[in-house]
Amino acid sequence: SRHIAVTGSASGIGQALAEQLIGAGDTVIGIDLKDADVCADLGTPTGRAQAVEAVLERCGGVLDGLVACAGINTPSPALVSVNFFGVTALAEGLRPALAAAAAPRAAVVGSISGTQPVDDEVVAACLAGDEAAALARAEVVMGEGPQKLYPSSKAALAQWVRRDCVTPQWAGAGIPLNVVAPGVVRTPMSAALFADERMKQVMDRAVPMPLNGYAGPEVIAEALSWLIGPSNTHMTGQVLYVDGGAEVSLRGPAV
Ligand code: NAI
Repeated sequence: SRHIAVTGSASGIGQALAEQLIGAGDTVIGIDLKDADVCADLGTPTGRAQAVEAVLERCGGVLDGLVACAGINTPSPALVSVNFFGVTALAEGLRPALAAAAAPRAAVVGSISGTQPVDDEVVAACLAGDEAAALARAEVVMGEGPQKLYPSSKAALAQWVRRDCVTPQWAGAGIPLNVVAPGVVRTPMSAALFADERMKQVMDRAVPMPLNGYAGPEVIAEALSWLIGPSNTHMTGQVLYVDGGAEVSLRGPAV
């Protein structure tokens, strides 16, 4: 059976994906703050190193798939540590184990928010791999416009995927690396937003979903499943919007 590491496995999209993969016969190594096979804080370098070590032990150094779902949306500098470095550092740490597998695959969860206005300095610091600089700039952004932090973390993540997916380390090692960018998904994360009717109205304007409205987490999980499945031999570096038409509604038909 394939060994697939899934971050954020205790809730929402990660939990739905873990259930689907287990149902299909895979061995899932769930990673989360709690209620997981590997309990670690991906927001810290120590937690990431612990997670890498624990996953390597569980998969015997050969990892068939990695899906990074863990993320937070509460406006704070920690956003960049969890949503960007918690994904990229973990992926880099596990990449040799992926390269050792027969048909390795990796995917991360971005967001439609990655298309919204970002702070260029936060994005640049993330892409430079400079967590201290990203955190320092995020502190400044907190005072100026904290709503830019989440989009910045997700835009940086998508750009990291598109930059690195074609390198010898990823494409050269036979590892497809893609992003699924959801619109609004019914999970504990969005439930917090929708508890506030005014916030819900803001969200509905910011993320229009003419095709079937809000998605369930299993819908996002299905797209991730295909990306890390055996059929995906040639798609890499793509940002798949699974968003009820939000990206097209916001950006228009030009490609
Ligand atoms: P969720 O809150 O239900 O699940 C996220 C999981 O990540 C939780 O189990 C949480 O404990 C874990 N996590 C958070 N910080 C962590 C850390 N430092 N270390 C380890 N684990 C940590 O959220 P949901 O909705 O399932 O989100 C999954 C991904 O989808 C996130 O990256 C989120 O940004 C993204 N997303 C969600 C949307 C939505 O409407 N729910 C829309 C677009 C993107």
